[in-house]
Amino acid sequence: MKKTILITGATAGIGKATAKIYAKNGWNLILTGRRAERLEELKASLMEQYSAEVITLNFDVRDKDAVNEAVDRLPATWKNIDVLLNNAGLAKGFSDIQDGLVEDWETMIDTNIKGLLYVSKAVMPLMIERKSGHIVNIGSIAGKEVYAKGNVYCSTKHAVEGITKALRLDLLPHKIKVSAICPGAVDTEFSTVRFDGDKDRADSVYNGYQPLLAQDIAEAIYFVTSRPFHVNINDLLIMPTAQANTSNLLREE
Ligand SMILES: NC(=O)c1ccc[n+]([C@@H]2O[C@H](COP(=O)([O-])OP(=O)(O)OC[C@H]3O[C@@H](n4cnc5c(N)ncnc54)[C@H](OP(=O)(O)O)[C@@H]3O)[C@@H](O)[C@H]2O)c1
Repeated sequence: MKKTILITGATAGIGKATAKIYAKNGWNLILTGRRAERLEELKASLMEQYSAEVITLNFDVRDKDAVNEAVDRLPATWKNIDVLLNNAGLAKGFSDIQDGLVEDWETMIDTNIKGLLYVSKAVMPLMIERKSGHIVNIGSIAGKEVYAKGNVYCSTKHAVEGITKALRLDLLPHKIKVSAICPGAVDTEFSTVRFDGDKDRADSVYNGYQPLLAQDIAEAIYFVTSRPFHVNINDLLIMPTAQANTSNLLREE
């Protein structure tokens, strides 16, 4: 029987690359994000390229009613979600904490922490009922260390680490696996979003070294979710070879 993955934030970067790998491997896909047009384009290309079965759900993870309604309205067979990939997330701003914008803090906290909780809360009962499922949260090296001017973003990713551990504990009796995949620098739209569309500033984040590609993380996610039932990969920290930690990068011209 075909398996089903629900991916939050499938319109770009890691989520989009992950959708392609699962489609290629014959999974059914529930793709979510705010940009409806991008979701439809991705759906059409995955259907054409891999004959994939795809449902798109257009919602903002910060809107708990929209999250619940979208999951509720899934056709019954699509409620058999085998893997939930909590990937939607973002950083906003880059400044010392005393200079940070409260609106940026709220956007990050609402998306990266509360949004992840809302989606998990909507999907968990479906997994508990079937005593089967795997929740994969996208954390970050920023969830393990704090870097200068990264304060609130890093804190949201530390929270993802805590939530991941709590989910694993509480879902243990229900036989639901919980994993975290924690990347270092990945070349996606992440920095463009962080710097409000300033492409030059965003590109400078990835200058002089080879960052990870979204595909690298997507492959790791697929690996983690295709282990036998008795194997769970709790936590995977994946870095570019040129990045030792959040702050030490080997940049070469
Ligand atoms: N890139 C990195 O260096 C890096 C490193 C470590 C961890 N991460 C984490 O990886 C995850 C994916 O990021 P990415 O690098 O792939 O960035 P990206 O290319 O900007 O993609 C982010 C995705 O999240 C979605 N998203 C953002 N806010 C949302 C909201 N309120 N509701 C629904 N969807 C939302 C976006 O979709 P819409 O805008 O269409 O809604 C988009 O599909 C994030 O959790 C990020 O923190 C990234």
